[in-house]
Amino acid sequence: MAYSDKVLDHYENPRNVGAFEKGDDSVGTGMVGAPACGDVMKLQIKVGEDGVIQDAKFKTYGCGSAIASSSLVTEWVKGKTLDEALSIKNTQIAEELALPPVKIHCSILAEDAIKAAVQDYQAKHGASKEVA
Ligand code: FES
Repeated sequence: MAYSDKVLDHYENPRNVGAFEKGDDSVGTGMVGAPACGDVMKLQIKVGEDGVIQDAKFKTYGCGSAIASSSLVTEWVKGKTLDEALSIKNTQIAEELALPPVKIHCSILAEDAIKAAVQDYQAKHGASKEVA
């Protein structure tokens, strides 16, 4: 199966690989696995006081499409609010990377990972922020 140029680009030059320092309150971490293949994706966001995502990092143990999907979303979420990040759809990722049908679940993994990271951040910061 041939990967698209965009998948290969992100696979060969992944953006934002890594992790933030442990214990940083402004970081939300999402860790998700794909039951279909066992691939695992860890995605982190660093959120500013204004609620805007300043930075993002990922580590993915998975196929080329999963790596490309996570690399892409770390680029997309920067500068977005948490709500905007939550609205990212796997279909947008799949379309941008021209993923074939058998690789759609790889983009779902990235959507799930960003949602999990936002939820982790929100859980850490409680409901008080939403009221304020
Ligand atoms: Fe499972 Fe890509 S093959 S994440």
